[in-house]
Amino acid sequence: MKQILQALQDAKLVQLFKSSFILPLISTISMENKTISNTEGLSRVDGRLKVTGKAKYSAEYNVQGLVYGVLVGSTVAKGSIKAIDTKKAEGAPGVLSVLTYLNAPKIPGYQVDNPPPKGPLKIFYNDQIYFNGQPIALVVADTFERALFAASLVSATYNVTAHQTELKTNMSNGFAPSKGKDYVKGQEDAYKSAPIKIEQEYIIPTEVHNPMELHAIIARWDADDKITVWDKTQGVKSTQRTIAQAFKVPPENVQVTSPFVGGAFGAALRTWPHEIAAVLAAKVLNKPVKLVLSRADMFTSVGYRPYTWQKVGIGATADGKLVGITHEATGQTSAYEDFTEGVVNISQLMYACPNVNTKYRLVSLNVNVPTPMRGPGEATGAFALESAMDELSYALNIDPIELRLKNYADTDPSNNKPYSSKFLSDAYKLGADKIGWSNRSQQPGSVTQNGWLAGYGMAAGMFGAHRSSATVTARMMADGTLILQTAVTDIGPGTGTAMVTVAAETMGIPADKIRFDMGDSSLPPSPTQGGSQITSTVGSAVHDACEALKEKFKTLAGNSSATDYTQILKQQNLDKLEVTTASKGGEEQGKYSMYSWSVHFIKVLVHPATGVIKIDKAVSSADAGTIISAKTARSQMIGGTIMGTGMALMEEAVIDHRYGRLVNNNFADYHVPVQADIPLVEAYFVNKPDPIINPIGAKGMGEIATIGVAAAIANAIYNATGKRVRDLPITPDKLI
Ligand code: MOS
Repeated sequence: MKQILQALQDAKLVQLFKSSFILPLISTISMENKTISNTEGLSRVDGRLKVTGKAKYSAEYNVQGLVYGVLVGSTVAKGSIKAIDTKKAEGAPGVLSVLTYLNAPKIPGYQVDNPPPKGPLKIFYNDQIYFNGQPIALVVADTFERALFAASLVSATYNVTAHQTELKTNMSNGFAPSKGKDYVKGQEDAYKSAPIKIEQEYIIPTEVHNPMELHAIIARWDADDKITVWDKTQGVKSTQRTIAQAFKVPPENVQVTSPFVGGAFGAALRTWPHEIAAVLAAKVLNKPVKLVLSRADMFTSVGYRPYTWQKVGIGATADGKLVGITHEATGQTSAYEDFTEGVVNISQLMYACPNVNTKYRLVSLNVNVPTPMRGPGEATGAFALESAMDELSYALNIDPIELRLKNYADTDPSNNKPYSSKFLSDAYKLGADKIGWSNRSQQPGSVTQNGWLAGYGMAAGMFGAHRSSATVTARMMADGTLILQTAVTDIGPGTGTAMVTVAAETMGIPADKIRFDMGDSSLPPSPTQGGSQITSTVGSAVHDACEALKEKFKTLAGNSSATDYTQILKQQNLDKLEVTTASKGGEEQGKYSMYSWSVHFIKVLVHPATGVIKIDKAVSSADAGTIISAKTARSQMIGGTIMGTGMALMEEAVIDHRYGRLVNNNFADYHVPVQADIPLVEAYFVNKPDPIINPIGAKGMGEIATIGVAAAIANAIYNATGKRVRDLPITPDKLI
């Protein structure tokens, strides 16, 4: 309440209350080192549209003449299609077409003389089956229900060959991928001869993104070489390129619209076979086709975090100085395409350690291809490394934070480059204070609270901070409205809100005078929303465009200080003034190591008889540079904690290896955290600008919000119970 009153006393904030789209601005966001500015706590600029249902998602466009597609998946995991019977389906009411590899027109971009041995799955290309659930037919009908019914009538027989879907029993088939070379610094396996050492294996199972919004596309051909799609995607420009390439039309002839995305977490980073199938069917029928994946389809069609085995060895001197780290990982991939991620990279640079070696292998299985999932690689790697660091802290009898501070890296240990900024030590202190770390006992299983075992755990995370290129148009209208335009999508973090914030601060105008247009391939180019790079990249481009626009106003106004933009436009008899600015990082990119850092703290309660786990308190603190948008940044961190909780305690896609088929491809059997599983999550930011990375000082936080959370929970459970669980998820049966 005190904060609210303080906020109300701020004249600028009172003014913001009057704006049309800023809902009551009651900010209880915890921010350190930041004075209240005119955009502090700006609510989501699209919040009202979202909560009133006015925000339109891909499946919701009422395109004239729509017909509906439903996919049919294979029921075997490996082999070839012997026969496929589509007659019954074709005769069902309302059915317009049943596409299979036998009758589908050839997709021009698929027809290559010497196809590479591996690559993205080509839908309806031939009779080959690579995984159970692989789409073998697309039924299109005049209604969704009729298409769904007809899809149930498609049947196929197969020439079945023996499949492999289990990583554990296929570890000996591991191969080194072309990306991700073995890494050796100093002496290999130096940990083995250290006075204190631990050596353990860790497993994370397959986890599926499962955003709330199902993947959906509406595809329409407007001419022989012109396509429009309303598509769930993290990158309208990359979807435009992929569809253009597949159908051999000029990229500018493919219009991709994706203004709202209901979560994606990496699952919509690329264009998947179902999207190509919808565009193909629209061509065949010369009608707009809508294809929405079912929840079950979502488990086999849009990637996942791959099942990964890891082994970590860490050695230290008796006083806790690291001697050596060895980190090995083997992850699963598909038989048709390799997916690699930086699982072991975190061990190369998280701590100052003279001897580090890492190794990464893949095993090809009869499964669909994995794809990045929030904190790709690092989230998996951090579970192993940060669990192992915790194990080492007990072996040394040193506080886990103290152990980390003893081995703090002031420069990047993998290449000796300076960091553009690193305030991780501030984040340790901030979070430790907020969780009440001083109440923690170093003796596992020694504290009870109302009959439950209580424990504290922490773990750190890091992820590369990037700035790539983006182009932004900034247009000041005669009525004082500023319109910003760029192609970027917002998959949920609040990009529009952050961009409006940057523009408001740069232009010195109220946020409600600013409109940010996005999610449209016809707008100036922006990168795909992924890899925690959008606030840094597009935020800098917005900043640069606004600065350029200000300059233009200044020139117009004869170099006098020009802040009354409408006045200048009026004087000059102009209805608008605009600039389009391309913006990207410079040579600093090569000179510095750039990372965002997070620390996650968990207090957990474990019931001694039943093994039931309750997260009592969760605190995340982060160094992500300048915090641009306080409320959405906080939400991002909370979301990351929730996702990490799923990873730690619940999520596991289970394959019945006899059939190579997923058995829990639904929300009844694949568990994700619900409201009752999550306590009040507190998020804190060091909030010091990175002076190097870009003009706005922001680094990015999409990935670090999740990276380290699972280890922090596992570490808290150990502290509470004395039981170390190294294979996720940590379900109650593993504790009793
Ligand atoms: Mo994210 S895994 O960069 O969408």
